[in-house]
Amino acid sequence: MRVLAFLDGTLGDPTKPYVRVDNTGVLRGDGIFETVLVVDGKPRELGPHLDRLARSAAMLDLPEPDLGAWERAVQQVIHNWQGAPEIAVKLVYTRGSEGDPDAEPFCYALGMDIDDKVRTARAEGVAVATLDRGFGPDVAERAPWLLLGAKTLSYAVNLAALREAGRRGADDVVFTATDGTVLEGPTSTVVVVKGRTLYTPPPTVGILPGTTQRAVFRAAEDAGWTAKVENLRVEDLTSADGLFLVSSVRKVTRVHTLDGTRLTDSTAIHRELCEAYEKQYA
Ligand SMILES: Cc1ncc(COP(=O)(O)O)c(C=O)c1O
Repeated sequence: MRVLAFLDGTLGDPTKPYVRVDNTGVLRGDGIFETVLVVDGKPRELGPHLDRLARSAAMLDLPEPDLGAWERAVQQVIHNWQGAPEIAVKLVYTRGSEGDPDAEPFCYALGMDIDDKVRTARAEGVAVATLDRGFGPDVAERAPWLLLGAKTLSYAVNLAALREAGRRGADDVVFTATDGTVLEGPTSTVVVVKGRTLYTPPPTVGILPGTTQRAVFRAAEDAGWTAKVENLRVEDLTSADGLFLVSSVRKVTRVHTLDGTRLTDSTAIHRELCEAYEKQYA
């Protein structure tokens, strides 16, 4: 099932072509996106997603997005959805036609079903490989033009990393900096649990600030946990009581194996975190 909505309030036919062949998003991955989870007709963390869309747009020098129009497009998708209770709504924003000084950005919201693989990972957990991203943890500050921390359409590297994980017998990836600092997954934020404390790396190491991580931390703190944003090292992952990858679509997914080694069983912590996370939307 797919539902396509444009920012002028009209619906499109998701099986028809709309994107011009000279669109910069297609030619160069020059654009940004968001993926919003909708459950039972309610979008989760829509405000933070729209704020991050505006932040990514600013980082790419794209015209400031009309957040009201984006919100209406999301509602339009939800309103016209007749599929399963969960929707992944992609907000896609490209610069427009290359070489055209009057190019209008090309934007749309596309509702899609949640992948079966994501559902399986939510239920059963995942095996993860750590992969060196080849940068130090100070690169975001030293080289802002690398756009680390913006949610750009240039995800070829992220997908290549996931294929490398597959070759290593893993399902997902945790990127590390050259000095062993923990960064993020190709499409997720890393959350580590030690005792009753949750940890996640700071965005300053060159990662996307996660909307789900923030929501999980908020819910966990309400449930009596402590939550800290701190630099982590690979050793912190192996010695943790729980390691999780979190994102809008995968929610809180448990990592059971890291670089081929089985981690401490974290199913009880996982259950508790999932309960706290879901409770805030009940
Ligand atoms: C690189 C990266 N980090 C983190 C996340 C998690 O972000 P969110 O929780 O806002 O979905 C994503 C989501 O796709 C991502 O692509």
